[in-house]
Amino acid sequence: MKKSIEEICNRQVERELYSSLLYMAMASWTETRGYSGIADWLFEQAEEEKEHMLKFVRYINGRGGHAILPALKQPPVEYNDIKTLFDEVLKHEQYISASINDIVELSFKEKDYSTHNWIQWFVSEQLEEEASVQAIIDKLNLVGDHNMYIFDRDILSMRTGGDSGGGE
Ligand code: FEO
Repeated sequence: MKKSIEEICNRQVERELYSSLLYMAMASWTETRGYSGIADWLFEQAEEEKEHMLKFVRYINGRGGHAILPALKQPPVEYNDIKTLFDEVLKHEQYISASINDIVELSFKEKDYSTHNWIQWFVSEQLEEEASVQAIIDKLNLVGDHNMYIFDRDILSMRTGGDSGGGE
């Protein structure tokens, strides 16, 4: 494996691992605020990022390179609110997509077609991740100032919780 490819893949090891840490920090913040559903989603996302990082580690080592596990900067501890938190998740995923695209570009330039082929999985994965975060943001926008989404869910649980006959 060429040095330039090894280096850019190691850069991605650091970025995927940081993504995992960032989502865990966000999960921890949301959990302490009582948002257990959102915390679960973020913890799960953090696990996925760890898996992404490991894919890079195994790929680098498998191609005769040396995967380096980095020291990481501390992610933010506090977040303003759920909406801005998800805006930050989307922004972070767009940054990761751009970084994956750098690998696509460099592997092509370096004629490393194995890496070019291997990295396509991440291209699709990024597409999916951005779409799923965007879907959450769209839902959050529905919530608006009037908590319509929560209200909608409440209504649903009231319907499924009782018999159709009504009564006390
Ligand atoms: Fe592994 Fe969400 O980027």
